[in-house]
Amino acid sequence: MITGAEAKNRILQLRQLISEHNHKYYTLAAPEISDYEFDLLLKELQQLEEAFPDFHDPNSPTQRVGGEVNREFVQIRHNSPMLSLGNVYSREELLAFDERTRKMLGEAPEYVCELKYDGVAIGLTYENGRLKHAVTRGDGTTGDDVTANIRTIHSIPLQLHGQEYPSIFEIRGEVYMPRKSFERLNNERNLTGQEPFANPRNAAAGSLKLLDPAEVAKRRLDCFLYNLITDKAGFDNHYDSLQAARSWGLNIPPYMIRCSTLEQIYLFLDEWEKNRYKLPFDIDGIVIKVNRFQQQENLGSTSKSPRWAIAYKYAPERAATSLLSVSFQVGRTGAVTPVANLKPVVLAGTTVKRATLHNSDVIRELDVRIGDTVFVEKGGEIIPKIVSVDLTHRSLFSESLSFPESCPECNTPLVRNADEANTYCPNEDACPPQIKGKLAHFISRKAMDINSLGEGRIEMLYDHGLLKNVADLYSLTATDLLGLEKLSTDADGKIKKISFREKSVENILKGIAASRSVPFDRVLYALGIRYVGETVAKILTGWFGNIDALAKAGEEALLQVPEIGSKIASSILQYFERQEHRELINRLKEQNLRFSTEKTNEITDNRLQGKTFIVSGRFKTFSREALLATIEKYGGRNVSTISSKTDFLLAGEEMGPAKKQKATSLGVRMITEEEFLQMIHTEKL
Ligand code: IVH
Repeated sequence: MITGAEAKNRILQLRQLISEHNHKYYTLAAPEISDYEFDLLLKELQQLEEAFPDFHDPNSPTQRVGGEVNREFVQIRHNSPMLSLGNVYSREELLAFDERTRKMLGEAPEYVCELKYDGVAIGLTYENGRLKHAVTRGDGTTGDDVTANIRTIHSIPLQLHGQEYPSIFEIRGEVYMPRKSFERLNNERNLTGQEPFANPRNAAAGSLKLLDPAEVAKRRLDCFLYNLITDKAGFDNHYDSLQAARSWGLNIPPYMIRCSTLEQIYLFLDEWEKNRYKLPFDIDGIVIKVNRFQQQENLGSTSKSPRWAIAYKYAPERAATSLLSVSFQVGRTGAVTPVANLKPVVLAGTTVKRATLHNSDVIRELDVRIGDTVFVEKGGEIIPKIVSVDLTHRSLFSESLSFPESCPECNTPLVRNADEANTYCPNEDACPPQIKGKLAHFISRKAMDINSLGEGRIEMLYDHGLLKNVADLYSLTATDLLGLEKLSTDADGKIKKISFREKSVENILKGIAASRSVPFDRVLYALGIRYVGETVAKILTGWFGNIDALAKAGEEALLQVPEIGSKIASSILQYFERQEHRELINRLKEQNLRFSTEKTNEITDNRLQGKTFIVSGRFKTFSREALLATIEKYGGRNVSTISSKTDFLLAGEEMGPAKKQKATSLGVRMITEEEFLQMIHTEKL
């Protein structure tokens, strides 16, 4: 056993070492040790921190995987307002900016050109070399404290290098999602039936807003810093200040030049307009800044943006091509999406062959026809869209497109609800893409996590008639699988042969068997009931304890559950109404999948038996009605007037001071919503 002092030394040493390797890997892209060696160091640190919790530090590299879950973000006021930038869209406007600037200064300034990163603005404050907090722009005056989420970004140092940095300073920059992370995230969202993000910027913004840093860590965000705010650092210009910040370990992008003429600026503009799609992240223009701080100060700012900087925005790229045909694709939920097949055309760095037409309303509004010359655009959105039709090229004989009346996959008549733009195939249990989608969702990571099977293999087993629904997975045998073969084309059009050899068959069967121990909430999520995502599944399983109780619950009972509204409730009711679904669940039960929470047998539902509660104020996770119902569900009693016999005052926000005083004088214990949640179950929803 090592002593506390030894542990502390080693912990500090490991944090330093890991932080150096982290910098080499994520910021300099020049790792010195293998991932394996890195993991060993991290693991050693984790174990020591667990054994010696006194040395906990929120800025330890172990915390990058995500610490505590937030209930909501604390608001922090910016020291100086977080401004935006004025935009220009042409060289003429840029020229005007330069003229204005020169006139105001009485001399020609030196400029710095940088890329305009398309993400979410962030301000990082460092105190004595340690990351103190990270705040979003918010309304420009106050923003959200998202420090816990920002710690998950590996290129942001939690501890600066060397000794040269100012004791306190702020540096601002942009949190963005690299295109690779974005594609991975959207693939996963598609697979699990969640709405994909339209572009990396939205994905970055959505990720920073997540309350659970562990989830943020999985999103693989990154960050570039471009604006050091300090007056005591001894630099007289922006460029030098950023070079210094880079030497402290901060991630300053390399795409930056100093220019003294407009011609140099134009070259930079043109170079990146051409090469922007070769970057692994999105930019939407370039930023031109006056370099010297003194000149910046002389120019000052308006209430919205500084006069010493301007953004030159690139126009969304647009291309003309012709519409060859339209296919109608059926997704996992049965939604039928029209997809335009185009004559291949290069747009925003990639060859575009298809564009979404969204739904029948969009087709009607565009009145787009086969053979038309159409304009496609990628306005920051990953999926290109048809923005307009060139009517001057339209053939006299073209006809308006019509939306199919029956499913292109299974021929079932399609339905469209009055309040929805989508058209659906209702044949959810027998329409091939719907079944395949359900199977893919069932095996996905957040559901049953059977990673030895992928989408390609699922498709193949389906095509061979071995899988008709998710329960069939559990009756697969080695004889069924051995020797199966199939040719498949991947996303890049390459042909791959998928075949099942002994080793992979063994892995598949092992993976399926192991999924029997997946907890109930994930099993419920895996069933793919509409609107029952991960969080809703956790709430439902926590409340009902087992599937029979959930299946029996009527609308009223469902609506009592915190967070469950009528849309989710009616989807659950519809699901369990169907005999096919009840049979499916029975089959899965026979296969020993978990359909109850472990704790229901041990913990009685009368944890609050004999206790009286008075509920007052506003609450974060529960409505007042839901709280009253929860207290009763666990055997407690609600009272409306406080007395010395009352056991607990459950105090929310904005509770009147008189109540508080009364409770104190009567000796009634006051508890917060969090404490109440802990009383009923320690696990987090
Ligand atoms: S400087 C006082 N530099 O674009 C404003 N901003 O549309 C200082 N942005 O609010 C901002 N890349 O969030 C600056 N190289 C860059 C940037 C950049 C992206 C963002 C930033 C800004 C927004 C304005």
